[in-house]
Amino acid sequence: MTAISCQKVTIAIAGRVVLNAIDLEIGGHELIGVLGPNGAGKTTLLRTILGLVAIRSGTLQVFGKPPSTGNPAIGYMPQSRVTPDGGRLRGRDVIAATARGERWGLPWLDAATRRDIDWALERVGARDLARRPLAAMSGGERQRLLLAQTLLGRPKLLLLDEPLVNLDPRHQGEMVALIRELQRDLGITVLFCTHELNPLLGAMDRVLYLGGGQAALGTVEEVINSAVLSRLYGAAIEVISHRGRIFVMSGNQELDRCNHGDHAESHHAPV
Ligand SMILES: Nc1ncnc2c1ncn2[C@@H]1O[C@H](COP(=O)(O)OP(=O)(O)OP(=O)(O)O)[C@@H](O)[C@H]1O
Ligand SMILES: [Mg+2]
Repeated sequence: MTAISCQKVTIAIAGRVVLNAIDLEIGGHELIGVLGPNGAGKTTLLRTILGLVAIRSGTLQVFGKPPSTGNPAIGYMPQSRVTPDGGRLRGRDVIAATARGERWGLPWLDAATRRDIDWALERVGARDLARRPLAAMSGGERQRLLLAQTLLGRPKLLLLDEPLVNLDPRHQGEMVALIRELQRDLGITVLFCTHELNPLLGAMDRVLYLGGGQAALGTVEEVINSAVLSRLYGAAIEVISHRGRIFVMSGNQELDRCNHGDHAESHHAPV
């Protein structure tokens, strides 16, 4: 089964081409790390798959159909996450609000939806968070709750935009392991956008690197090398492996690291 198929897809925002005639074929049971510098088009690609951004030309299919908004086969964790002023809100309320399709109401839910919420919380090991106020949760706990939210309705495809943001290395590792476990157990496809390659090494099936309007999809060895990345960046890139970690360098500067926290706060909000 093919989850996402792009043929010569061009996406432009505000008249500027972000992705130029890209070809992709992503299977039904893959964890794909989506990497690339700021502004490369990672978020735009996810929003296009969600039907929120129209393509300019080419053919894009999601499970064999053109993208459409409100696709129940897709769970989405957006990059700019507006957490409510959550003094009173408990973990369960936050998830329930999504299930009802409302933002922060306190909805009445039918039994099937309540079961779905319990299942999603259980799957991410967040049952104990259901009754806790959001305000009292750590970044990692909130992130797990948001992951539970994406599982509602049992989607076949998860689009996760920077799920490691604001997490320290230990919590990054736990989040990656949890997402990998979910992807395998549920037999689904995950597109996992991140700025950092190393936390995903060993956990992803393939990497999709975006840069300069182009896309490269393949194994880490096929994509994270000097030839491919120099083409995407349009500059000389060196790839250094050291003690199981990979460093992508332009001159003396390491490229796949940046201050996520500051960046995420200042990023334009997705619709
Ligand atoms: N709503 C918008 N209005 C105008 N330009 C936009 C909008 N959304 C995205 N862009 C532009 O499209 C390009 C791709 O942005 P996108 O957010 O997809 O990049 P990204 O790879 O997700 O970057 P980041 O790593 O910073 O999250 C950028 O040049 C961005 O400024
Ligand atoms: Mg982004």
